[in-house]
Amino acid sequence: TQPLRIAIAGLGTVGAGVIRLIETNGELIARRAGRPIEVVAVSARDRSRDRGVDLSRYQWVDDTAALVHAGDADVVVELIGGSDGPALTLARTSLSAGKSFVTANKAMIAHHGLELAEVAEAKGVALKFEAAVAGGVPVIKGLREGAAANEISQVFGILNGTCNFILSKMESEGRDFAEVLAEAQALGFAEADPSFDIDGVDAAHKLSILASIAFGTRPAFDAVAVTGIRHVLAADIAEAAALGYRIRLVGVGEAGPHGLFQRVHPHLVPLDHPLAHVTGSLNAVVAEGNFVGRLFFQGRGAGDGPTASAVVADLIDIARGEFGPPYAMPAASLTAAAPEQASER
Ligand code: HSE
Repeated sequence: TQPLRIAIAGLGTVGAGVIRLIETNGELIARRAGRPIEVVAVSARDRSRDRGVDLSRYQWVDDTAALVHAGDADVVVELIGGSDGPALTLARTSLSAGKSFVTANKAMIAHHGLELAEVAEAKGVALKFEAAVAGGVPVIKGLREGAAANEISQVFGILNGTCNFILSKMESEGRDFAEVLAEAQALGFAEADPSFDIDGVDAAHKLSILASIAFGTRPAFDAVAVTGIRHVLAADIAEAAALGYRIRLVGVGEAGPHGLFQRVHPHLVPLDHPLAHVTGSLNAVVAEGNFVGRLFFQGRGAGDGPTASAVVADLIDIARGEFGPPYAMPAASLTAAAPEQASER
């Protein structure tokens, strides 16, 4: 059988993690996928950096844009990040050239996912982004597949590990926001622009993707109301604890009479709610379906191992020939998120 040939753009933590995972679990992956997954070409900014993986076996491409045609790849894997720029150019050119595309880029999918899905569907190739939401937690597959037959009333969760780490530390150690922030950044989970984490933008990117999958609506990042955790004080957390609550940054999507309502805010979560027990850098997502009931997903939302796991799971799907629509239904069938947006967009 023919291997699935992949080209990887971006060799940071996640890119190197994908190579390490494929090298370590290659045989198991081949058995599960029905054929081997083979890295044929890679591209990154700095060729000389030591990433702890042997890159000498792969074709090196200096110009990311040229990766589309490198090594006769079947799939391009984008792990560069950023909503626009080289990541978006690569996505557009890859899909237009009829290559399947796998990405962990939540900012790009939040802003341009629909456009890219339309190209992928027109070309009959796959666009997959499981790693973009909650890293290793299979929440896109969980909702797309596990709740495929359900009407979902609500989807909500802890979608940013950096914020959850900060809030957990502030709570357990009584320390202030600014003190714990540097520690959270040292974990390596923070975005290139850390204000994306603490101001709730990263969580909003992920929520808009999840909401679209859950409700069959067109992704509407601009419609998410966002407040981050910058102004949460140790005293607020102590006060909440005295009343039997914890403070968590929660993203919520709800189907209401006026359409979809999406928001990301610090929430008071009662101690008897599962989200109150999601501590440290973990992520968690809850969805309520009309036949399945409550679904609860939890796990690591960032880091090389979990994120690479989600990327390679998407590659295994493609190796098996799963080229279905990226969202819960074909892009043309997605409805407007809210009635008033229908006229604006
Ligand atoms: N900055 C993100 C987080 C990384 O802290 O959760 C994973 O998307």
